[in-house]
Amino acid sequence: MILVTGGAGFIGSNFVLDWLSQSDETVINLDALTYAGNRENLSSLIGDNRHIFVQGDIGDSVLVAALLAKHQPRAIINFAAESHVDRSILGPEDFIQTNIVGTFHLLEAVRGYWANLQGDAKQQFRFLHVSTDEVYGSLTKDEPAFTETHRYEPNSPYSASKAASDHLVRSYHHTFGLPVLTTNCSNNYGPYHFPEKLIPLMIVNALAGKPLPIYGDGQQIRDWLYVKDHCSAICRVLEAGVVGEVYNVGGWNEKPNIEIVHTLCDLLDELRPRDEGKSYREQIITVVDRPGHDRRYAIDASKIERELGWKPSETFETGIRKTVDWYLVNQPWVANVQSGEYRAWVEKNYNERCA
Ligand code: NAD
Ligand code: TYD
Repeated sequence: MILVTGGAGFIGSNFVLDWLSQSDETVINLDALTYAGNRENLSSLIGDNRHIFVQGDIGDSVLVAALLAKHQPRAIINFAAESHVDRSILGPEDFIQTNIVGTFHLLEAVRGYWANLQGDAKQQFRFLHVSTDEVYGSLTKDEPAFTETHRYEPNSPYSASKAASDHLVRSYHHTFGLPVLTTNCSNNYGPYHFPEKLIPLMIVNALAGKPLPIYGDGQQIRDWLYVKDHCSAICRVLEAGVVGEVYNVGGWNEKPNIEIVHTLCDLLDELRPRDEGKSYREQIITVVDRPGHDRRYAIDASKIERELGWKPSETFETGIRKTVDWYLVNQPWVANVQSGEYRAWVEKNYNERCA
C-alpha cells in the first residue's frame, strides 16, 4: 500500500491512474480538494477498491497519523502543494500554509509512524517529496542547465515555499534518519492540467475564441516534460533511488513561451481549423509581464539517466500532440473545471495585465 498526497491534482491524478494501470498495490489518496483538486480526474476509479480517497489536509497531523496507523503504507509520495506562480504573487499565504507548514506537519506525522516500524518495514519505507526546478532560480541564456548541486535561489513565493519544503525534507533525513527521496522536475504538461497554466490555458482560450495572453516578450524559456514521463521517473526513484538523494527530472526540451504558443496554434489549425479559415495565431496578444518573471529554467537530467536508467519516452512533438488531442476530446472536463472560482481567477489575473 502507498499513500499519495495531492492525488486529485494534475500530476498526482496522472500518477494514481498510471500506478493502478500497472499495479494492484492499493493507493490511499489524501487530497484537500482545493480549487486545483478534481475528483473527476479519478472517475475511472469509481468502484475500484485499490483506490481509497480521503479528503483532508496534509497539515492535519491527527488525520495523517490515523491514516498511517490504519493502512501502514510502505511509501508516501507527496504531491500536495499550492502550485501556481501567479497565484503565489497575488496571494502568497496559502503557499506558506500548505507548502511549508503543511509539509512540516506531514513530516512530523510520518516521522512518528516510521519510528514505530520494525525490521524490513522500517528499512524499506520511503518518503518521496515531489518538487520543482524553480527552487534553483533563473538561468541566463548561456548558463548550463540546473544540476542537483545548483544553489537554491528561489524567486517567487511559490518557489521559495517549495524550497523551504525541500529543506525541511532534507533536514528530516539528516537529523532523524527519515528515508527521504526528493525529485526536482521541470514544467509538466498533459491530460488534466488545470487551465490556469500556460499550455492548457492557451488551448482552452484558443478554442473559445479568446485572446492568448503572452507575458512580456514571450522569450522566457521553460523545459517541458510530458506528465506521464514525470510519473515514470517518480516510480523509478521510488524503486531504486538512494535514500537522502535528490534527482532532477526533465525532458531536455527547452522552448521559449512564444514558440510553445505557436506550436499549439499550428496544431489546432490542423486538428480543429477556425471557421473563418484564419490561424489561431491571430488571437495572440501581449500583456503586462509577471513580476520577478524567471527568464529561463533548464534541467540537467543526466544523474537520473546515469544512475537509475530513466529517460523520457515522449518527445515534445509527440507529447504536445497527445495533449492537444486530449483537450479536444475532453471538452466536458474543461467545461466542468471552468467554475465560478476559475472565472474569478481569470478576471483577477488578466484584467490588470490587459489594462
Ligand atoms: P496541482 O495544483 O494541480 O495539484 C495540487 C493538488 O494538491 C490538488 O489536488 C490540491 O487539492 C492538493 N492540495 C493542495 N493543498 C493541499 C493540502 N494542504 N493538503 C492536501 N492536499 C492539498 O499541482 P500539480 O501541478 O499536480 O503539482 C503537484 C506537485 O508537483 C507540486 O508539489 C508541485 O510543486 C510539483 N511540480 C509541479 C510541476 C508542474 O509543472 N505542474 C513541475 C514540477 C513539480
Ligand atoms: P506557467 O504555466 O504558469 O508555469 P511556471 O510559471 O511555473 O513556469 O507559465 C509558464 C510560462 O508561461 C511562464 O514563463 C509564464 C508564461 N505565461 C504566459 O506568458 N501567459 C500566461 O497566461 C501564463 C499562465 C503563463
